[in-house]
Amino acid sequence: MADRLSIRPMNFFDQYPRFYQTSRTSPWPRRLNARHTAIIARNAEALRGRRVIDIASHDGRWTFAALHAGAAHVVGIEPRAELIANARESLTHYGVSPDRYELRQGDVFDVLDGSLHADVVLCLGFYYHTIRHAELLDRIERTGAHLVVIDTEVAPISDAAAGLDDPRLVYANPHVIQLLQDPVDDQRMACADALTRNGRTLVGRPSREAIRFMAAHFGFELDSYSWQAHFERRPADAEDMIDYFEGWRDTLYLTR
Ligand SMILES: C[S@@+](CC[C@H](N)C(=O)[O-])C[C@H]1O[C@@H](n2cnc3c(N)ncnc32)[C@H](O)[C@@H]1O
Repeated sequence: MADRLSIRPMNFFDQYPRFYQTSRTSPWPRRLNARHTAIIARNAEALRGRRVIDIASHDGRWTFAALHAGAAHVVGIEPRAELIANARESLTHYGVSPDRYELRQGDVFDVLDGSLHADVVLCLGFYYHTIRHAELLDRIERTGAHLVVIDTEVAPISDAAAGLDDPRLVYANPHVIQLLQDPVDDQRMACADALTRNGRTLVGRPSREAIRFMAAHFGFELDSYSWQAHFERRPADAEDMIDYFEGWRDTLYLTR
């Protein structure tokens, strides 16, 4: 594995191009490299020497990037066997020692059963592929993590902070979760679960303020990457990142 000092954050995946081939889920160089800046490079200090859980680890792109940034150990959780296999092949190909990671095939709600502990949890591209948002945060809190990175679509409603101190708020309540269905045969989407009917399961896209509200409930403060400033520096990135550019996807940092 290359020395950590050799990371060129803006172009990280150009040095590891297998990840452009091992997934059908937005594997575009500009997008992956820009996300690397927000997810990994921004948190390099917090990852160094730490135990990490990578929820929805997919083809191992973020498990690998966290290890490359100096994480001591990463547990990746991913239900789809072909993606676990792709991750294992890439991590082996790029020379990562197998004692630094574990790839668990399964549903995060089965795997995060209270027995896994971590310093940092990555929840990337998954928080809008579940309807069990609060339960997931509860399980993440129980890992002991002090930093949680949530990269997710968010409901683009007005995030006006009216009445945020009222837990029973009725009108102008910004803590909204949009209901959607995911086709479970698509590798980008939720896996089949107990709520699946006719090939689709129920999921929800929470607003930023809904995430802030739930995070606060479980004792976390919330901060976010400034994608607006990012696109001012690197306007070409916006072409592959319309969701972040238009404000309906965000990279959030929960700390405690
Ligand atoms: C949009 S992709 C995100 C991939 C990667 N984490 C990223 O952000 O680039 C969603 C991933 O969630 C996985 N997934 C779906 N349901 C899951 C579940 N119940 N538990 C864990 N992972 C799940 C999918 O198989 C897929 O790999």
